Amino acid sequence: MEIKITKAAVLKEKPDSSTLGFGKIFTDHMFMMDWNSEKGWYNARIVPFGRIDLHPASTVLHYGSEIFEGLKAYRRKDGKVQMFRPIENIRRMNRSAERLCLPEIPEDLAMQVLTTFVELEQDWTPSAEGTSLYLRPFMFGNDESLGVHAVHNATYVIIASPVGSYYAEGINPVKIMIEDQDVRAVRGGTGYAKCGGNYAASNRAGERAAQQGYSQVLWLDGVERKYIEEVGAMNVMFKIGGKIVTPMLSGSILPGITRMSCIAVLKDKGFEVEERLLSIDELEAAMENGTLEEAWGCGTAAVVSPIGELCYKGVKYPVNNGEIGEVTQMLYDTLTGIQWGKIEDKFGWIQEI
Ligand code: PLP
Ligand code: COI
Repeated sequence: MEIKITKAAVLKEKPDSSTLGFGKIFTDHMFMMDWNSEKGWYNARIVPFGRIDLHPASTVLHYGSEIFEGLKAYRRKDGKVQMFRPIENIRRMNRSAERLCLPEIPEDLAMQVLTTFVELEQDWTPSAEGTSLYLRPFMFGNDESLGVHAVHNATYVIIASPVGSYYAEGINPVKIMIEDQDVRAVRGGTGYAKCGGNYAASNRAGERAAQQGYSQVLWLDGVERKYIEEVGAMNVMFKIGGKIVTPMLSGSILPGITRMSCIAVLKDKGFEVEERLLSIDELEAAMENGTLEEAWGCGTAAVVSPIGELCYKGVKYPVNNGEIGEVTQMLYDTLTGIQWGKIEDKFGWIQEI
């Protein structure tokens, strides 16, 4: 498809790497494309970064028809820019679209517009240690009427933000509260989709945990509040008695690309990885008898985030003496090594710009 490019008249000054934070600064342009149930996708364009005009009855404002993705472009030592497994984000976006009755984007088209946009904005990819260009594709339903039904109009947008570490703590261990009241998602619901509503509904528990000094919550399943699902907006993994255990994808868990990549690296290094149900009782027993060796969250933003303490029903359990464990560190080093082009990508995950 032809992409019409309108360049910004004045380019912004690039920020100093030490001031980046996460998702606060945006690049000069954004990609936009519209969809209509009769016309399909049309009007692909790159325009100066700016506000989006919405009708007050626009579907997204009332019924939450919104999905998004998150991936990064990394600057290598030789100056080239590369993305990590972008096809997986494109595929997941289409699965989210199917769940929310939003339009899917043919993979070729989604890849064409993403690479065109990143090529144009690549100078914004910072080069300091641990920094990257976070790419945020998103789509929303945009009918100008209050009827509740699958939409006939939608808009797809990609914005980009140079970022530093997601957590202020960097790769230091975080404290996690096990949430036994609110749930993030249920099977049959939208847990496996990356839709905005999932995050809106998770904020109350996150706020409660923050008030008590915890960075995030560990979610339990929505039916029995018994099985472990995710940690905050990340997948979660444990090393228990030498084996790696991670909740299996049951429909209520987001199939993380970092999760998938961690599993591949772990298996490649000879670890036994169990994707299965893990109950809070089993985890509690492992915390009490000392067989819980390591715990970490994994997601694009933080890559791998060690868990240094878990709190359940008021009891605090330190994990690995509050220090980053060996497997957690190995995963962080391997994934970031591949992402920043410091080590060989034997898995074929990298796509150069
Ligand atoms: N779980 C949730 C709820 C998320 O929002 C994310 C972030 O994207 C993840 C897990 C990790 O997914 P990925 O590794 O693809 O970033
Ligand atoms: C992740 O990349 O791990 C995320 O959860 C992104 C978040 C900002 C929604």
